Amino acid sequence: MICHPSEVLPAPQAMRVTRFGDPPTVPTRSPGRRSVTKRAVVRVTHASVGATDLTAIRGKYLLQPFPRFVPGYDLIGTIEHLGAGGHPRLSVGQRVAGILPRMGAHATLLSVAPSLLVPVPDGLDSATAATAPLDGVTAQFALDALDTTHGPILVQGAGGAVGGWATQLAVARGLTVFGTASPRTRQRAEALGARVLDYRDPDWINALVEATGGGVVGAIDHTGSRELHRAVSPQGRIVRIAFDGTHRHPQRATLAGFVSATLRRHAHPSERVCSIPLIVAARRAAYRNTLSAVLTDLTTGALLPPRVHEVRFEDYASALTDAERCVPGSKAVLAMP
Ligand SMILES: NC(=O)c1ccc[n+]([C@@H]2O[C@H](COP(=O)([O-])OP(=O)(O)OC[C@H]3O[C@@H](n4cnc5c(N)ncnc54)[C@H](OP(=O)(O)O)[C@@H]3O)[C@@H](O)[C@H]2O)c1
Repeated sequence: MICHPSEVLPAPQAMRVTRFGDPPTVPTRSPGRRSVTKRAVVRVTHASVGATDLTAIRGKYLLQPFPRFVPGYDLIGTIEHLGAGGHPRLSVGQRVAGILPRMGAHATLLSVAPSLLVPVPDGLDSATAATAPLDGVTAQFALDALDTTHGPILVQGAGGAVGGWATQLAVARGLTVFGTASPRTRQRAEALGARVLDYRDPDWINALVEATGGGVVGAIDHTGSRELHRAVSPQGRIVRIAFDGTHRHPQRATLAGFVSATLRRHAHPSERVCSIPLIVAARRAAYRNTLSAVLTDLTTGALLPPRVHEVRFEDYASALTDAERCVPGSKAVLAMP
């Protein structure tokens, strides 16, 4: 017999944003809305908090959910229930990781498609595992989208969350990595193997072009800067993971950047957009393989995680403050009750 989770488990709770700019501080009861017949019910134990959550809570995210949404894209948890038919890779009681195609992970219990979940390797603790799904998978797909085996490449924000993973992954592939960072994150970027340029130096692109003898062959970027075309050789490629910039209207800037990058698909240098929510929705098997590989590399020590700053679910406000402060080399992770 298939039981609805609310019949057998404590009431699920979620951090719900009811008004943009007004972060939730108290969890609210979260009734399961979808049938669990073919789904997995996951007791969430850990979930990361990052830049995308902060943007969405402000109401400035391109894939902006409507008010009453629950932030959070990725999670670690335990399978409480598997719907009819089960799933060959999964079993009840198993520890799993996943990224959702739409936000909603900052909750204690989720009903999700089993195809979103991969096992967490034994030997990897859940809080550490929680640092990896969204940021690590973004970095890996962005690097793959550069489609280069020789480098040198540029990673913007190499001391940041996604940039830190991208730098490590690229160095592990034997690529020379130039990374941008302010003095605040410089040390972190260098420790991961990047040759650092300060993005606040108006001359940094000229310095990069000179150091590389004509520009890098690929760049992973979250700023949307058009100046970056000068930093990349004509046959090279820019992969945009965001279009943050300093624009007063970030959603408009992101939409414009998305269109511009799509139109530049065959330009010199070419551009690609890497959006993990879209990849999770459209390329499920590739997403799962990449997430599994990142978790395996974390377990073997081939990839180094950021320092976990674990925050109780009930202290959500301080998790957001921590994510905002963005201490170099540290990641805010919610620990559910
Ligand atoms: N495409 C996707 O699916 C996807 C997935 C995850 C995240 N994202 C997006 O990717 C972006 C980065 O996320 P994150 O979690 O890595 O953020 P993060 O940890 O805050 O890192 C951002 C980094 O960017 C650096 N930075 C700030 N201004 C810069 C500039 N003008 N030029 C170059 N670097 C600059 C910062 O360095 P300093 O601290 O030294 O200033 C910081 O290290 C966010 O917009 C996020 O929403 C996209």
